[in-house]
Amino acid sequence: MRKRMASPTPGTSGWARKALRRYAVGMGAPPREFSNVIVFNHPLIQHKLTYLRDRATSHRPFRALLYQIAGLMVYEATRSLPITPVEVDTPMERIIGHRLGAKVTVVPVLRAGLGMAEGVMEMMPEARVGHLGLARDERTLQPIVYLQRLPRDIDAGPVLLVDPMLATGGSAVQAIRLLREAGAKDLRMLCLVAAPEGIERITRENPDMTIYAAAVDRQLNERGYIVPGLGDAGDRLYGTE
Ligand code: PRP
Ligand code: URA
Repeated sequence: MRKRMASPTPGTSGWARKALRRYAVGMGAPPREFSNVIVFNHPLIQHKLTYLRDRATSHRPFRALLYQIAGLMVYEATRSLPITPVEVDTPMERIIGHRLGAKVTVVPVLRAGLGMAEGVMEMMPEARVGHLGLARDERTLQPIVYLQRLPRDIDAGPVLLVDPMLATGGSAVQAIRLLREAGAKDLRMLCLVAAPEGIERITRENPDMTIYAAAVDRQLNERGYIVPGLGDAGDRLYGTE
């Protein structure tokens, strides 16, 4: 007689178990078709992201969670930053240590990117911050640029573009164009939730760009929102729903 396997998640229904399995697959290594995407399967990030997704989470904890996740993600997104050796005297002896060897610029896409940028800046307080104000026209889904303030020497080092939501990719592609026009060369994108459609759109124009995401979700809905997603990130962050 075939023995029934014990549920890995006792107390969950069949539907929930299937959903968990599907989600666990999505959380692993980058999906095969997106070799330029690094998905964070770290338990702490997934734990916090689940609270963030919850519609019952109000703007105050939402802001704190976004900040914390961004801080955790920056650790991996900066792994390949250049470093330069420096001499330092410890209380015991002189050693060769290392400092970041390039000027890093963090560029949040307003509004929601600001919530992530704060978490990144906590980890890298010496980074400069450039701002891009883009608002997606909810009828046409096209981004409208309303602000651009970038360091003049943005080409002096890596640029981290931060925006929690990568949906159609219209805003990200526009932001990347503006950053390239301003001189950015080493460009990486940090987002929280990405839709396959947005990843494909960025990759078509920027095949070499690495995208760091806490999750790649299933798809966009007919209004261009990510599902399951977390809703409108800017509104949830600032309580403007
Ligand atoms: C959201 C989000 C992205 C954009 C993603 O911003 O923060 O910038 O939508 O959508 P897309 O990939 O289809 O372009 P929104 O334009 O809603 O502005 P907000 O942050 O001020 O609310
Ligand atoms: N912008 C958001 O804030 N959320 C989405 O799901 C899509 C675009």
